[in-house]
Amino acid sequence: MLLQASVLIGLLCLSHTGGVLGFARLQDEVELRSAFSVARTNSMEGGPKMTVTFDAVYVNIGGDFDPKAGMLRCRIPGAYYFSFTVGKFPHKDLSVMLMKNRNEVQAIVYEENAGEERKVQSQSVMLQLDFGDTVWLRLHGDPRYALYSNTGHYTTFNGYLVYPDTYGYQTHHHQHPPASNSQQPLQENNPLSDDNQGTEHEVSATRDTQEERVQHTEEEEDEDDDEEDDQRSAFSVGRTQSIVGVNQVGLPQHQPVSFDTAFVNIGEDFNVTEGLFTCRVPGAYYFSFNVGKLPQKTLSVKLMKNHLEVQAMIYDDSVGEKALQSQSLMLSLKPGDTVWLYSHQRDGFGAYSNHAKYITFTGFLVYPDFPTTTTSTNTATGSQSEKKP
Ligand SMILES: *[C@@H]1O[C@H](CO)[C@@H](O)[C@H](O)[C@H]1NC(C)=O
Repeated sequence: MLLQASVLIGLLCLSHTGGVLGFARLQDEVELRSAFSVARTNSMEGGPKMTVTFDAVYVNIGGDFDPKAGMLRCRIPGAYYFSFTVGKFPHKDLSVMLMKNRNEVQAIVYEENAGEERKVQSQSVMLQLDFGDTVWLRLHGDPRYALYSNTGHYTTFNGYLVYPDTYGYQTHHHQHPPASNSQQPLQENNPLSDDNQGTEHEVSATRDTQEERVQHTEEEEDEDDDEEDDQRSAFSVGRTQSIVGVNQVGLPQHQPVSFDTAFVNIGEDFNVTEGLFTCRVPGAYYFSFNVGKLPQKTLSVKLMKNHLEVQAMIYDDSVGEKALQSQSLMLSLKPGDTVWLYSHQRDGFGAYSNHAKYITFTGFLVYPDFPTTTTSTNTATGSQSEKKP
């Protein structure tokens, strides 16, 4: 019967990928996936129709992105990571905003330089979306602005679901009823709760006959219980004001760039006013940041770890134009590690932003480290090695 098939999958999954979390992940992959990646093969001039549409589709898992409309419509509530790159048209300015719903500006790509060169600019943020929310790109409506693309695909737009809102329920299914979020249509139609309960019962039933395997399962469930409510960490923040370095004795040195807008702060690991991320869940984190260049100022912004360990930087000492620069990096962090942005504080340095948010900073946990009851090298080699002598 169907139930037995799911038990088999459940047991296979338990023994190969490490417990209930692994099982929940399998279900996630089936039920909770959303991702798109699209490109545009021709240019577009600013005009009344400002939505950037796309004609090349690389990925559209779940079918949530409509390339002709240029719009993602959220089907699965949760935190999504978006990135986009747009080409600058020769002799035109560039201004493309990431929009949520009708008119909520989230972040911008901008280049005020009607020079003849072609180049690309990028931006990225994470957004919390509810069912039915839309996300799209808006080109400035004035014909002074244009974006460039050709069959080389200068202009691209990507987004994917990082943390569905149901994550907590998925990993807590054997302890808690699906109380929160139950108003969402997704959960109501979702057969996961029944399947999971069925699997739990069946696993109990197999305990008499398959002692060894079930003993193993219990161990892993216990480990999961300790870890399971901490497995998400994500922030995405924006700054609406420029930063201008000054030579001034007595100012605190090496202050983090602070922020005034939080798009996402899952786990509350980022202190927005301080500009400081403090690692709670050890693991591998993805970070990306984007910073505007002030005319006549040198742009120098570094991604820092702990006290003054430079991890990556953005630098631009060109003159006389506003533009955007981007950087991204993955870091392996331990609990208590801090990550922050540093903009050079001396006179002559600075970074541009305004209400449209040129300056953004995003980070999220991609893979938590394995539970520390055994050494990570042991758990990494597979479940067999977890059996203690
Ligand atoms: C952020 O840091 C400031 C300064 O250390 C502190 O006063 C504030 O309470 C912190 N905010 C949060 C939400 O922890």
